[in-house]
Amino acid sequence: MSSKIFKIAALAGDGIGPEVMREAIKVLRAVEKKFPLQFQITEAPVGWAGIDAAGKALPDATLALCRQSDSILFGSVGLPDRDPTIPKEERPERAALLRLRKEFGLFANLRPVRLPKELAHACPLAKERQGDGIDILVVRELTGGMYFGQPKKTEEIPGGHRAIDTMVYTTPEIERIAHVAFKAAQLRRKKVTSIDKANVLENGVLWREVVTRVGKNYPDVALEHMFVDNGAMQLMLRPTQFDVMLCENMFGDILSDEAAALAGSLGMLPSASLGATNGGNTFGFYEPAGGTAPDIAGKNLANPIAQILSVAMLLRYSFGENAAASAIDDAVGKAIATGHRTGDIFSASEPKATRVGTSLMGDVIASAV
Ligand code: IPM
Ligand code: MG
Repeated sequence: MSSKIFKIAALAGDGIGPEVMREAIKVLRAVEKKFPLQFQITEAPVGWAGIDAAGKALPDATLALCRQSDSILFGSVGLPDRDPTIPKEERPERAALLRLRKEFGLFANLRPVRLPKELAHACPLAKERQGDGIDILVVRELTGGMYFGQPKKTEEIPGGHRAIDTMVYTTPEIERIAHVAFKAAQLRRKKVTSIDKANVLENGVLWREVVTRVGKNYPDVALEHMFVDNGAMQLMLRPTQFDVMLCENMFGDILSDEAAALAGSLGMLPSASLGATNGGNTFGFYEPAGGTAPDIAGKNLANPIAQILSVAMLLRYSFGENAAASAIDDAVGKAIATGHRTGDIFSASEPKATRVGTSLMGDVIASAV
C-alpha cells in the first residue's frame, strides 16, 4: 500500500514546548503505523530557542522550513524572565508567533473547548451549571485588531510616557472570519454568538453590522450578539448556551482562556490557525492554546493533550485525514476514560485516577491509537 507523504515543520519552542512536542511526534509515529500516511517531520528552533541558536526568535532557516512544509506544528514561545534582556519587538511573542500568523495569513483561529464528563471534577463550576456537558468552539480573528493595528508605540510625554495601541478592522476582515464561524456552526449545533463591544467601540459597531449581514447567508444558523463583558460573565453562569463564539482578536484571546478553564485545564485546549484555502489545500498552524508554563518546564509534569489534540486538528483541517484525526481524538478520550491524569486534571477524590507524567500520558495515547 503506498503512503501519502506530508511535510510537517515541528517548532517546539520554549518552556514545556519541547516535552509536549515529543509526545505529539510519538503520536504521529503511531498514526503512521496504523494508516497509509507518512510524515516528514523536521524540527527547528523558535522563540528563545531560536534566539539562542541563531540570534532571532524566528530564525531565517526556521521560516524557510515553514514555507517548504505542508503545515506547522507549534509548541509555545516566551519566557517572561528573559524579556528584559531584549527590546520588546524582538521578543518571541511578537517576533515569532505574531509574525508567523501574519506571514502566513492565518486569520482564523479555532479553539474547541470540551469538558469530557470524566473531568467534571476539574471544571471550576458547580455540577448543575455544567448541564449535559460543555462544548464550545471559539472562533478568534487572529491577524487584525489591537495586536496588529498601527500606530503601536510608546512615546515620551511630559511627566511620563504615552502608550498607544490601535484597534482596527475592515469589512473584508470581519466578513471572512464570520464566514468561518457560520460554516463551523453548520457542522455543530447551528448557533453563533458574536462577541463585541458595540456599546462603546467603533470597531464593535462595524463588527456587529458586518456579522449580521454575513449571517443572512446562513438562515439555518441562529445568530445572537453579546457584549464581551456579558460574554465573560455568561461563560461562568451558563456556558451550555454557547455553541460557536465569534470573537475579534483580543476578545477571543481572553475568552478562550476563560472557556478553557471550564474544560478543566488550559492543558487540554488545542488550536488551529488557518489561512485561505488554496486549490483545496489549507495551510495551517497548530498549537496548544496555553503557554510555555516555565514553572513546570522540564519536569515531566506538563499535560501533552493540547499538543496531541492539535495534531488531530492538523490531520483534519490541513490534510483532510479525518479517520486518522478521529483515531487520535478517540485515543485521548480513552486515556482519560481509563483514569490517566496529569497533575493539572488530577483530583485525589477520583477513585480510579492515576497520576501520570507527560511522557507516560503520551505513551498511553500513542498506544491507544
Ligand atoms: C495565545 C497567546 C498569544 C496571543 C500570546 C503568547 C502572544 O496568548 O495564543 O492565545 O495573545 O495570541
Ligand atoms: Mg492567549
